[in-house]
Amino acid sequence: MKKTIEQIKIEALKELETTSDRESIDAISVRYLGRKGMVTKFLRNISNLPIEERPGAGKRANEIKKDLDKLFKEALKKLEARSSITTDNQIDVSLPGRTVRQGSLHPITQITWQICEIFTRLGFDIVEGPEVETDYYNFEALNIPKNHPARDMQDTFYISKNIVLRTHTSPTQPRIMEKQKPPVRIIAPGKVYRCDSDLTHTPMFHQIEGLFVDKRVSFGDLKGMLTTFIHRIFDEQTSLRFRPSFFPFTEPSAEVDIRCVMCRGKGCRVCSQTGWLEIMGAGMVHPAVFENVGYDTNLYTGFAFGMGIERIAMLKYGIDDIRKYYENDLRFLRQF
Ligand code: DAH
Repeated sequence: MKKTIEQIKIEALKELETTSDRESIDAISVRYLGRKGMVTKFLRNISNLPIEERPGAGKRANEIKKDLDKLFKEALKKLEARSSITTDNQIDVSLPGRTVRQGSLHPITQITWQICEIFTRLGFDIVEGPEVETDYYNFEALNIPKNHPARDMQDTFYISKNIVLRTHTSPTQPRIMEKQKPPVRIIAPGKVYRCDSDLTHTPMFHQIEGLFVDKRVSFGDLKGMLTTFIHRIFDEQTSLRFRPSFFPFTEPSAEVDIRCVMCRGKGCRVCSQTGWLEIMGAGMVHPAVFENVGYDTNLYTGFAFGMGIERIAMLKYGIDDIRKYYENDLRFLRQF
């Protein structure tokens, strides 16, 4: 009989080894330790054993009952521990972590900051002006009178007769000069608006304005400053040229070109086979502008420049369609 309880134990352990779920462990537990279970039955039948075997068999059967109970409970616990890391509502600690994507600055913001940094290192302060501007600052203070043909250069959004969406960042020039005596050394980045839309124009775009006023400021200073800037934003190999041009608020005026950054001057689609790219307008501040803000034109001279930020970014990154900046396609934006 004693052998039988040992056999029962061996069988129980064998069965336990094959289990992989809660139900089968419960079933084994019932089969061996339940009210009609094999171990229970064995204990109940001990009275049938020869009297001298009873105490030993009883003791051993109770030991086995305890052992098995402990083993079944442990098996259940193990199973629970394992399943708790894989069931749906639990954390699977064995999976690799999910990376949280970090946002980044828009390419236009990045370039704006780069340009600002270059000029602040050259001693310029950053200022800002309003995007909804008066006709006076956008045009008249800049020597563009009403009905002057020069107004046609910019397709203006009028809010009312005397209020416009600024067509350029140049109105920051008279605004700052009205408030500040020379020397003035500022750059003014910001949004500007023109009724225009194609591959290279959007109704809203960004410009950066520069203004430097002091005693004895010369065209040579302008050239030196812009050359330093172009070398820093592109590279030292990028050469510049100044072409005579016209802006009502500068005299003389120039259009600044750089050697094509794509073909290095050989001629390509981007530079329309010319080898040069127009990059900004610039010139010596017109005396009429100084008079409008009450500066002494005998004492002070100055230079000014204005450039489109999208254009700089397009050339720097080799982007051929300006509208890509504003479509909010994350596949595009994540490249910067
Ligand atoms: N405001 C001009 C434009 O938007 C660009 C410009 C030209 C700005 C010459 C200047 C300048 O400050 O001196 O077309």
